[in-house]
Amino acid sequence: MNKWCLMAPSLGNSKIGGTGSFLLVYRRVVVHWRAIILLLILALATFLIAYPDRGSPIFLVFDLFVIALLLIFIASQFFWIGRILDLAERFIPGKPRRAWLAIIAGLVYSFVFLYSYPEWGLGHIIRAADYRPQSMLIYAAFWWWFVGSLLAFLQVIAFGAADRAARATAWVYGKAREAKHGHGAALRQGAIAFDPPSPARRRFLEQTAVLVSATGFAAAGYGLLYGRQNVEVVRQRIRLARLPKAFEGFRIAQLSDVHIGPFSTADYIRHCVTITNGLKPDLVVLTGDYICWDPQAEGEAVRVLAGLRAPHGVFGCLGNHEQEGEIEESITRLFAAQDIRILRQERAAIRLSGETLNLIGIDEPRGEEWEHDVYRRLQEVKGLVMPGTVNILLLHYPAVFDYVVELGIAIDLTLAGHTHGGQLSLDFVHRGLNLGRLVTHYVSGWYEKGGRQLYVNRGIGTTGFPIRLGARPEISVFELTREA
Ligand SMILES: [Fe+2]
Repeated sequence: MNKWCLMAPSLGNSKIGGTGSFLLVYRRVVVHWRAIILLLILALATFLIAYPDRGSPIFLVFDLFVIALLLIFIASQFFWIGRILDLAERFIPGKPRRAWLAIIAGLVYSFVFLYSYPEWGLGHIIRAADYRPQSMLIYAAFWWWFVGSLLAFLQVIAFGAADRAARATAWVYGKAREAKHGHGAALRQGAIAFDPPSPARRRFLEQTAVLVSATGFAAAGYGLLYGRQNVEVVRQRIRLARLPKAFEGFRIAQLSDVHIGPFSTADYIRHCVTITNGLKPDLVVLTGDYICWDPQAEGEAVRVLAGLRAPHGVFGCLGNHEQEGEIEESITRLFAAQDIRILRQERAAIRLSGETLNLIGIDEPRGEEWEHDVYRRLQEVKGLVMPGTVNILLLHYPAVFDYVVELGIAIDLTLAGHTHGGQLSLDFVHRGLNLGRLVTHYVSGWYEKGGRQLYVNRGIGTTGFPIRLGARPEISVFELTREA
């Protein structure tokens, strides 16, 4: 008996084994969806009772999603470890005992998990400021496994659901035939629909299920080894009706979410700086999150970004990682020493041929009283707006854009980052279908609301998991124009 299948403890029939039990397990997961939802509700209710202040609808949806993800993750871990034990039993000579294999797998798993997640209870996703090759390797392996096993498990569930839907359709078809041709025909159809699959059908299902699950792991590997640093230059024309004539064709490059660290190294950022300089922008803007988790890395982040070149200079704002790392003052000073000006509730006039473009930057609002702080910051922005010209606002978290619109502040263009484009995204299926939707509906690219424009850059670094799938790192370059 397979003791490792959380959802289906009785499914390890040795006659079936391998991908046979694999198919049966995912079917059980589909069958037990009611129990899974009940568990989610119970877990969420417990959480809300323990932390009543997190009862607002936004947190509710977020918490529900996180708990769902956690439960699915736990189920997937039991599922995949069970499959690895199946393989080990089949291929390791001498018929090792499953219990021993399970203990070995459990120890390896616990080591990698605890090694990659050493700081429990810090309130944020997994941290990495350890550059030693062995640490990076274990950390990378952990995340490949985490994302891959989750993706593959979800794919297997979807595959199982599709299989059930097909069989249900056959059953409905049988019922329809019953109505048309009488009881005997329906009995035969019903038998076809609910009989165990034929050997040929079972083989087909097994092979498809293996193929389906392999793509999840392969995709996670791709996102880790290649997708993470496969930078895309995005060119965007921005139409601004109030643009002074002298700024027609003015080009602004934006870099965001550098997150210097083991998986966004100085060399990689230097490569991005070289690409940006090659675009020959008139001005460069940075929209926060220069470090990952290690405040000590601020110096290196600044040194690398000091390589940026633009005739009208390099300006920036701060992100939540500068706030959490308590380096807002120090990194601003370090940048200033390199002629990079961080705008903290300040403006800078960009002048060209006697005309002016107004650049404003604000800090990330404080987490404890976030909305209150947003209003306070934006009141300051109101006083910084210059009438009669284009006003561009640099901020980190794009959700603030809604408040800019609500308050009717005359900001023509807001440039933001923060989302990393979700890092895991199915934008090619539907825009916004990605992890970034958990924090804001402004996930990546260009938006317009209330006559104001917003651009959300996907950033070049990563946090949490060092994987990007469907959300390439981005350097954006905007060409300003008055023309339609
Ligand atoms: Fe970020």
